[in-house]
Amino acid sequence: MKNYITTPIYYVNGEAHIGHAYTTFIADALARHSRLLGNETYFLTGTDEHGQKIEESAAKQNKPTQQFADEISALFRNLWDEFDISYDQFIRTTDEAHKKGVQAAFEKMVAKGDIYKDFYEGNYCVSCETFFPESQLMDGGCCPDCGRPTTIVKEESYFFRLSKYEKPLMEYYEAHPEFILPKSRRNEVMSFVRGGLNDLSVTRTSFSWGVHLPASLNEPKHVMYVWLDALMNYVTALGYGNDESKMGFWPANVQLVGKDILRFHAIYWPAFLMSLDLPLPKHIGAHGWWTRDGEKMSKSKGNVVDPREVAKHYGVENFRYFMMREVPFGQDGDFSQRALIDRMNSDLSNDLGNLLNRIIGMSEKYSDFAINSVDVEKYHARELNDAHAILDSLETYLNELQIHRYLEELWKVFTIGNKAIEEHAPWTKVKEGRTDEALATVALVANLLAKASVMLHAIMPRTTATIADALGFAINTESYTTLIKEKKLLAPFTIKKIPPLFPRVEEPLMAEAPKAMIEEAPKAPEPAKEEKKVSTVPTEGLITIDQFFQTSLKVGTILEAQEVPKSSKLLKLQVDLGEESPRQVIAGIREYYSAESLVGTQVCVVANLKPAKLMGMLSEGMLLAAKDAEGLCLIRPEKPRQSGSSIG
Ligand code: MSP
Repeated sequence: MKNYITTPIYYVNGEAHIGHAYTTFIADALARHSRLLGNETYFLTGTDEHGQKIEESAAKQNKPTQQFADEISALFRNLWDEFDISYDQFIRTTDEAHKKGVQAAFEKMVAKGDIYKDFYEGNYCVSCETFFPESQLMDGGCCPDCGRPTTIVKEESYFFRLSKYEKPLMEYYEAHPEFILPKSRRNEVMSFVRGGLNDLSVTRTSFSWGVHLPASLNEPKHVMYVWLDALMNYVTALGYGNDESKMGFWPANVQLVGKDILRFHAIYWPAFLMSLDLPLPKHIGAHGWWTRDGEKMSKSKGNVVDPREVAKHYGVENFRYFMMREVPFGQDGDFSQRALIDRMNSDLSNDLGNLLNRIIGMSEKYSDFAINSVDVEKYHARELNDAHAILDSLETYLNELQIHRYLEELWKVFTIGNKAIEEHAPWTKVKEGRTDEALATVALVANLLAKASVMLHAIMPRTTATIADALGFAINTESYTTLIKEKKLLAPFTIKKIPPLFPRVEEPLMAEAPKAMIEEAPKAPEPAKEEKKVSTVPTEGLITIDQFFQTSLKVGTILEAQEVPKSSKLLKLQVDLGEESPRQVIAGIREYYSAESLVGTQVCVVANLKPAKLMGMLSEGMLLAAKDAEGLCLIRPEKPRQSGSSIG
């Protein structure tokens, strides 16, 4: 069977962070497991290097765009090499073969009648490289995805007839419920398509850093829309529009993406493929986002987790295990050193590591390191059956991308081993002269470890290779077949005395992220609520202008916004008031605004309120808002003003 697995291609405007590492780890695990099964596997990753955003980032650093892209692309590639990522190809959208392939695709779309020329006038978000219709924009013309201001772009443009594919897409989603994983995300995509698809502007004339249109069109001003260019990488990597040498791998089995780019992969991409008469991928797997210690990661906060640092201090395979085990695929996850250390100590050191140490110790004492499976079936048929039942069930989880579940179930094999040692207490049996029985228990555990290591190999390749080596075998398709498929036992061997693989970690090994302000804040006596009551119909108790100016009102820019767990009303915001560090404001606006829609937008803030705590979190200001029967809306400056500008 052919199995093609892809990651998104990463933008070269910044270095890799743990979000990128996460997708790449999962894809690597899927590819490794597929190879173990004996499938012909092709694993693609790479970098997305065109578009206005990259052009602007390079200009900021005063570097030629290509040089800038070369440098960052190399950083990604080097990191994946350091992390032992088993990609078969690292594609760059600046590769000549890719550009040729994109042009061939464009020509085919033109021939199909799916591309036409018109004018585009719309609001464009450079950061998301996306046009948004007026109706979707946030207040102040801001981008509905990232909240940053959009710019009005009017230019001649070629359009892709996305609207033509509305019905075929819906039919495809209906007929293939497993196309979008986890299945919970399918509805979201379907309701978006049901809402109607506009034709997509697929060329630009306002910048030049992109793939040029095919010469046959004679349109030197136009370059391709970066998402058309980028999405095509999945087939140009296989030779589309060139030698087509590896097109046998298409359609892909799994295309992994983050939830933020699901729409591009579950709507645009399949529509492009339909236009090109190519089959659609079997699964688009959308994972959630990682935060750090409960906070969104951002450069300005200085709390971005550098994957290289984590790997340096904790080991890349422990890090891989943690990321894949800790968070159910599709859900958001939180990175904290504590959580990583806990997983390492409990799962890896206590459950897995101890089991290996114990059988090394016992076989040293009782049999001079010799281990023989001869009596395992006789004394431990129940344990073996239980373990085989678990091992048989595992692949379903992997096929559904439920890797955390896969690992959770796999760990039950170690539990069987640890229980068998406790129950059968080989040390007592040896004393009673029942050495055969004692050695059978040791051999049972060795077999359980061997089988579990084969199934853990894709997640922790080096570690499991070391375990297998200690157990006298190598992990490969052959041992997968004998130990897992045929349920055979290990041939007699001499166990190697290797040092413990997972020493316990007591204290965090990396420097901590800047402490959240919550912990350092003084206790706030007053609930902020009272101050909000400014009477609009003053009959008595009128105030003087001086009294009014006792309230400091300022323009703030929202830098970060997050939902407060367990609260349906609150959002936690980081608001720039032009001060040294942003203020944290807990605002009861979650029913009216999504967290993502607020980032980059401006608000009016009461800046001299005493800090208060809401659900245990410090709030250092209050947003001005108006509420009536139709709901609540924030009061914002009519035009963007500098953060911290005073109002009054
Ligand atoms: N270049 C596009 C993808 C084009 S694919 C044809 C892109 N690049 S990206 O570098 O911005 O993001 C790449 C991936 O990283 C996305 O899947 C995104 O979801 C993921 N992540 C970015 N930040 C993340 C977290 N904090 N956590 C998890 N994944 C995150 O989009």
